[in-house]
Amino acid sequence: MSRQLIVAGNWKMNTTLKEGEKLANAIVKKSKANDPLVIMAAPFTHLQSIGAIVKDAKGVEVAAQNCSNELSGAYTGEVSVGMLKSVGVKYVILGHSERRQYFKEGNALLAKKTNTVLGNGLLPIFCCGEPLSVRKAGNHARHVSKQLREGLFHLSKKDFEKVVVAYEPIWAIGTGVTASPEQAQEMHDKIRKMIARKYGDKIADATTILYGGSVKPANAKEIFSQPDVDGGLVGGASLKATDFSQIIKAR
Ligand code: PGA
Repeated sequence: MSRQLIVAGNWKMNTTLKEGEKLANAIVKKSKANDPLVIMAAPFTHLQSIGAIVKDAKGVEVAAQNCSNELSGAYTGEVSVGMLKSVGVKYVILGHSERRQYFKEGNALLAKKTNTVLGNGLLPIFCCGEPLSVRKAGNHARHVSKQLREGLFHLSKKDFEKVVVAYEPIWAIGTGVTASPEQAQEMHDKIRKMIARKYGDKIADATTILYGGSVKPANAKEIFSQPDVDGGLVGGASLKATDFSQIIKAR
């Protein structure tokens, strides 16, 4: 078992269906067999159509940006894992800082969502990361450790092996400020050690840990070449096919 290199695009609440289809087609066209795994996290409304676009493309998958912790029923406005599976989705981003901040998703809810996703054959991309005030106080490792302990570390070894972790310092998201390669490596190393303490060295070594926060063509290579950085979760730059494909090929 070895780590998988992944470059995932988080489109957030951007693109119309037409624009999204155009973007997905362009990315599929540019993708090559020896690229890292490419994941496109598109809005819910686009997933079926983009699922069809990537269906025959090797090494390209579709993700949702969120899902319900419930399986079905009277939860107006929610989207279930069964619905996502039925349109070809394989991954689900969980615990993105925007979900935590604007929609008040806490670690306890995220632990439930993680169970729902894994229990139904989908794979979570679990986000963690600290706000600027926490970083300034020097408490970033403690903050991330709590997110992992409360949101993920209840999982069995067998389930944890399926998880992709994304470290996204909030002060670097959408701000143009990127963590330096050294800052990214320092936290990725710490996260891997937290995983090792809980699940052992073998599993920790095989866990894919993505970096997110203002990744661009100009900085991707330096960040991705850090020993504990296994690719990226890319927001703004994933909306331009040329930029995203340069990032995919950055390592
Ligand atoms: P950004 O977003 O690349 O626009 O900073 C990253 C993310 O939120 O996943």
